[in-house]
Amino acid sequence: MALTGAGISVESGIPPFRGKGGLWEKIDPMEVAHIDAFMDDPARVWKLLIQDMKAVLDKARPNPGHTGLADFEQAGILRTIITQNVDSLHQAAGNNDVIEFHGNFAWQRCLNCDGMIETTRVELDQMPPRCNCGGILRPDCVFFGEMIPQQALARSQQVSAQCDAMLVIGTSATVQPAATMPFIAKDNGAVIIEINREPTPLTQPISDLALMGAAGSVMPRLVRAVSQRRSST
Ligand code: OAD
Repeated sequence: MALTGAGISVESGIPPFRGKGGLWEKIDPMEVAHIDAFMDDPARVWKLLIQDMKAVLDKARPNPGHTGLADFEQAGILRTIITQNVDSLHQAAGNNDVIEFHGNFAWQRCLNCDGMIETTRVELDQMPPRCNCGGILRPDCVFFGEMIPQQALARSQQVSAQCDAMLVIGTSATVQPAATMPFIAKDNGAVIIEINREPTPLTQPISDLALMGAAGSVMPRLVRAVSQRRSST
């Protein structure tokens, strides 16, 4: 299985949250990405965060990091991806079993009638954008201060406990409870393989292998190496 974070989508033009060029360097997440901030002033959060996210995500396409994971699924090596990303790029690349730990930006939910509308169809001429019923729209993603969707959490814990190897790609492994999944896997005997541009809090304590570099260049090399190894045995 694989656990992915913002780093795997950087080469698709989506900035990460932390580190160099990270979104949280420019804006305080507690002011724009906390559910209380959204409920206090939805128009402000739409203007400061969601509108820009929509512009970036509408254009983003999978990169070789994503397609490498789709190749692994096709080869029968990878079963499930847990992603903290809300960009749908794993599904766009062709992976079929993707647990969206923090929800999905492709849909907006009405705070009044609970109706769903595709983000690409949302008109931005009024702030905050509204549903046909007049209710305010919010992304179907997890804000800080909200619970992880129960089913996503339970299934993530289950597949983490059962896997024999976990690829951990492009996550700073600092946001809970997603960051516990590699520890659950390790405690149950899995090999932990990290792909990241820099060391993370997992690297020293539990990573069996740390492949340092951009996911978009490491993944194709890993796919080639695994396929060569399989064809020679
Ligand atoms: P972060 O932004 O915290 O971390 C991104 C990680 O990707 C860092 O460890 C970078 O070193 C690494 N990285 C950057 N470019 C890379 C590349 N091209 N290839 C490989 N690695 C690269 O992102 P997450 O760990 O996903 O939550 O953050 C977790 C959560 O924090 C997000 O889901 C979001 C955020 O606040 C919510 O919105 C609830």
